[in-house]
Amino acid sequence: MDFKNYKAGTSAVWGGEDEGSFHGATTTPIVNSVTFQYHDLDEWHAVALGKAPGYIYSRNTNPTVRVLEEKIRVLEGAEAATSFSSGMGAISNTLFALLAPGKRVVSIKDTYGGASRIFLEFLPKYGVLVTLCNTSDHEEIEREIAKGCDVVYLETPTNPTLKVIDLRRLAAAAKRVGAKVVVDNTFATPINQHPLQLGADLVLHSATKFLCGHSDAMGGVLCGRQSDVDQVFHFREINGASLNPDAAYLIARGMKTLELRIERQNASALRIATHLKGHKKIKDVYYPGLSTHPQHEIAKSQMSGYGGIMSFELEGSYEAVKKFLPRLKLVHLAASLGSVSTLAGPPRTTSHVELTEEQRRQLGIPESLIRYSVGIENADDLINDLDSALDSL
Ligand SMILES: Cc1ncc(COP(=O)(O)O)c(C=O)c1O
Repeated sequence: MDFKNYKAGTSAVWGGEDEGSFHGATTTPIVNSVTFQYHDLDEWHAVALGKAPGYIYSRNTNPTVRVLEEKIRVLEGAEAATSFSSGMGAISNTLFALLAPGKRVVSIKDTYGGASRIFLEFLPKYGVLVTLCNTSDHEEIEREIAKGCDVVYLETPTNPTLKVIDLRRLAAAAKRVGAKVVVDNTFATPINQHPLQLGADLVLHSATKFLCGHSDAMGGVLCGRQSDVDQVFHFREINGASLNPDAAYLIARGMKTLELRIERQNASALRIATHLKGHKKIKDVYYPGLSTHPQHEIAKSQMSGYGGIMSFELEGSYEAVKKFLPRLKLVHLAASLGSVSTLAGPPRTTSHVELTEEQRRQLGIPESLIRYSVGIENADDLINDLDSALDSL
């Protein structure tokens, strides 16, 4: 089926579904088979060599997993897609497959904590040269790219301060030196942002977040040109960080409602951010949809919606956060984001728990910051919940 003429909401429902069709089932079957039999040895041989379509062994590919891969491929407008056991599986497999001793990667200081650990702890052990730039300093990032590099790794909006990176501008800089651009599109989702159309070579997601949308399965996906995806897939099928069919089923099912959820979350987050911005007990609100956001114009030029995640700073210290958060009723105080239910927590106990207070300060993460991932609840109820917790401070 060709999805070029369909909008995202349609592609999210129908994309990939014919890959898994089985006895006319109208919903994706979960194929929990590890292995697949062939009576014809020549056919078996052709499939095993990748010269004919089919399945051999579920560490490599699986019919349920293919449905999910096709769905995200169609939504990102890519030639090919593959999947992983988690978002970190997608990030680490991509970086390790594309890089090698002596190669250089340029990235930003504000990537997701797990990606930062790959940059600071693991890649240097294998002789990869890593340069992490100040996230909002596009001139500095361009200067570092121009010195020569193999991979430019970007994430936008960033976690937890919602900085926005100009993807067109940095993809153009990367092209000038022949570097591949990889973008983590987890926060934006393919409903709000299409990195491949903005010049990226590869786009990845923690499918655990908005794609799945219900906090009940973990996964990762990667989309791009066939040759690039094949290079990463080859590494993943050997190191074994494959997605299991049960998780693939839950993520693919969640994705059918992606557009509905994201439209709701975009609208609610903008309302809540605007409301909090004017509140006397809130020091600052970080949300790319606010006209006061330092990169609002960039966000406007590359995003069609601003996403469901914001962070805000309370007046006062971490003590205020400790009082405020437990007084919210419509929230899970938990790590993660992108679920149907609102999730919140301070970077101090979630994304940046491993850093010292001083390291967080250097990254511009105040101790009184709270990351708030808006769910699909009614926005009036969420605003009332926030207001009554703020009033009680
Ligand atoms: C932006 C971003 N990328 C990647 C990841 C890693 O995903 P996972 O937890 O599925 O490994 C996360 C997790 O929070 C994230 O927020």
